[in-house]
Amino acid sequence: MTAWTRKDLTGLDELSTGEITFLLDTARAFKGVGERSLKKVPALRGKTLVNFFVEPSTRTRTSFEVAAMRLSADVVNISATASSLQKGETLKDTALNLQALRADIIVLRHSSPGSSKFLSQRLGSSIINAGDGAHEHPTQGLLDIFTIREKFGKIEGLHIAIVGDILFSRVARSNIFGLLKLGAKVTLVGPSTLVPKSFEKLGARVSHRIDDILADADVVNLLRIQHERQRKEYFPGLGEYISLFGLTKPRAEKLKPGCLVMHPGPINRGVEIDSDVADGKQSVILEQVTNGIAVRMAVLYACAGGAQIPAP
Ligand code: CP
Repeated sequence: MTAWTRKDLTGLDELSTGEITFLLDTARAFKGVGERSLKKVPALRGKTLVNFFVEPSTRTRTSFEVAAMRLSADVVNISATASSLQKGETLKDTALNLQALRADIIVLRHSSPGSSKFLSQRLGSSIINAGDGAHEHPTQGLLDIFTIREKFGKIEGLHIAIVGDILFSRVARSNIFGLLKLGAKVTLVGPSTLVPKSFEKLGARVSHRIDDILADADVVNLLRIQHERQRKEYFPGLGEYISLFGLTKPRAEKLKPGCLVMHPGPINRGVEIDSDVADGKQSVILEQVTNGIAVRMAVLYACAGGAQIPAP
């Protein structure tokens, strides 16, 4: 039995522990490619990838492009403003046209939850979810988990605190699903308006006091406030948010020496994280970005039919 038989990656919620582990192990094998002078393997030679981003992105779009190029695929980038979505074409029709242009893989970022799943059920091309509204961002979840596993050698038994705007965060959901499947203890921290108790149904713990988790956490993963998805004010002001939930320098001094400080980016310096902490010795924020290439190589390789972990 192969460890991976899917053509799409739409979320971590639907993956088994074995499938997540397969992608992490495949990413570990591909990470070595980026450390060689010749950073290319022929695994996806002859395949065409379309990066279709209907929302802005720096890290995800660029690292999917770099990942595809390292696998020798051909890459086309299109954005919402440069596409015929502007003329009223539907997402489905646009995607069917990309398929008619023989796109083997479509990487989609879209503001609508479920958009990737919708296309995956209607197209033969592989669909990779690069963020669908506040639902999931599975490759970000995988690269976060990959980075933690690389540092600690395991996920099981670690205490991961995810701090900030959980309600509107697709990164939080993918992290929660993946980390819990791999045996981590997950605590969600933030104001009750942005971290409702209902998240406990997923198996995570909920806390409204960041100071209660600092000394015990193995990882603190900070999230920015997703103003673009909020339709009302969820806390009185940024000053109050920083004083109650920001990872300030005095708070960072209470972390265990080995605790990792993480952030998916883009960071808002001086809001969810102090600038010195973001650049400090416990921060792995830029390592997360680098690991995104290996993780996305693994996802593209797997969804294109690579069912065995490649030799390093
Ligand atoms: N973390 C993340 O998704 O960043 P981008 O929006 O820049 O892709």
